Amino acid sequence: MKNIYLTRKIDDVGLNILKEKGYNVDVNLSDAIPSHDEIIESLNKKQYDAVVTLLTDKIDAKVFDAVPNTKLYVNYASGFDNIDIVEAKNRGITVSNAPALITSEAVAEHTLALMLALAARIVEADQFVRDGKYDGWSPTNFIGTDVLGKSLGLIGVGRIGGRVGFYAKALGLKVIYHDVTRNVQFENECGAEFHESLEELLKKADIVSIHVPLMESTKHLINWERLNQMKKTAFLINTSRGPVVEEASLVKALQEGVISGAGLDVFEFEPKIPPELIKLQNVILTPHIASASIEARQEMSRIVANNIVEFFDGKEPTNKVNK
Ligand code: GLV
Repeated sequence: MKNIYLTRKIDDVGLNILKEKGYNVDVNLSDAIPSHDEIIESLNKKQYDAVVTLLTDKIDAKVFDAVPNTKLYVNYASGFDNIDIVEAKNRGITVSNAPALITSEAVAEHTLALMLALAARIVEADQFVRDGKYDGWSPTNFIGTDVLGKSLGLIGVGRIGGRVGFYAKALGLKVIYHDVTRNVQFENECGAEFHESLEELLKKADIVSIHVPLMESTKHLINWERLNQMKKTAFLINTSRGPVVEEASLVKALQEGVISGAGLDVFEFEPKIPPELIKLQNVILTPHIASASIEARQEMSRIVANNIVEFFDGKEPTNKVNK
């Protein structure tokens, strides 16, 4: 009998697939994020053959040392920067992720929601109404900006950035992008213009949206110097990973008017968010929920289960990331 451990509860779709296969499935039902030690402690309770992890679980050599018999880790997320995949590979451990296409859709839609809400000042205006301050129409209340005709600078046009570009074109934005390689198909689809130089892109864009994975090369990609290359009127949107932006510099840039606003779903030291950021009116903050649509979560759960079934059937899991 195969034993599977889940560090948190995920959508039932995948759990049902696993149970129907006759696997024993143990789920941590606590709503709290388990600590590193708690994960190790739970994994030591049984001989687990596979573990389903979340992006909040740090899976490293210490975990692998503690539970050497576990040979499969499946991350319930598209990103997998929480798992030391090189160390896993060295030990013959397989790591998969759950990059559902529909998750890219959810994240792209959330990105647009942040962008439009910033431009139309939706959150500030909502708070104003709730505070009982609305006493009649005014020609000067909450003047925002249109996105029509503005330049959207995408950093990364993989599956998520690509979808953001698709919608942006429909909204009448001019799409420009920077990536490690040129993507001619994307250019044709979205009328997008490639910028080999990130600096050039930052100088031109009215809205900058980040869609790169977190790696050594993308950590603090947006720092003080790069924020200063952006337009004073520009918005920065981050639905990728917090550490791609040097948060202290971003806070300073927002406080000093170096850029105009930000829409953030991820934070450098999440769940910690600097109090200075929370105080700012020109930011919209969401708690890492860009992929939290029911459609995305069900599909992610299905993908997680399918990767486990494939592994136990002796096949290479479709979404293995440490090849
Ligand atoms: C969410 O951030 C994910 O990587 O799926």
